[in-house]
Amino acid sequence: MATIEYVLGDITEQEVDVIVNAANSSLLGGGGVDGAIHRKGGPEVLDACRKLRAGHYGGGLKTGQAVATPAGRLKARWVVHTVGPVWSATEDRSALLADCHHNALKVAKSLGARSIAFPAISTGIYRWPVEDAARIANAAVRDAGIELIRFVLFDEKTLNAYRP
Ligand code: APR
Repeated sequence: MATIEYVLGDITEQEVDVIVNAANSSLLGGGGVDGAIHRKGGPEVLDACRKLRAGHYGGGLKTGQAVATPAGRLKARWVVHTVGPVWSATEDRSALLADCHHNALKVAKSLGARSIAFPAISTGIYRWPVEDAARIANAAVRDAGIELIRFVLFDEKTLNAYRP
């Protein structure tokens, strides 16, 4: 049974096996969580992402999918990059947001990870309403089969939305 924690903080500071990156399909960095992870993780993370793009992920990482790289200078052992769906008022992309969590957990477990930290995927630049993202994220990590899941939220509003 997984322990699920909700903390206010910076995901790049977390001492867990896997830190989940709210990436974009290019895997080549961006702002928000993505920018922070690449800035703190250093060039090793981007180099590994570039290798993925030169290989199996030539067309980029699809929304909802997840892939691991080393974590470079971060305290974690791996970064699992996942691409959240952009919010749409006309199309229900909830399953894709759930997939980000399911697939990140699947990759983490395949690596033998025992602890994983998630940001509030899609709720920043991708504009997903925080309350709805929280509902989807919490449902997606139920019975995850990993020892520790930590949601690392960047502000009180998001923390209060995610914490049951
Ligand atoms: N630690 C934890 N949470 C953070 C951090 C951080 N260092 N920085 C930002 N956040 C929060 C944001 O406040 C938001 O609640 O993470 C959540 C997700 O925001 P984004 O990082 O903007 O991610 P997302 O909405 O999924 O958009 C992804 O943004 O950075 C680009 O390359 C990325 O194109 C992709 C898009």
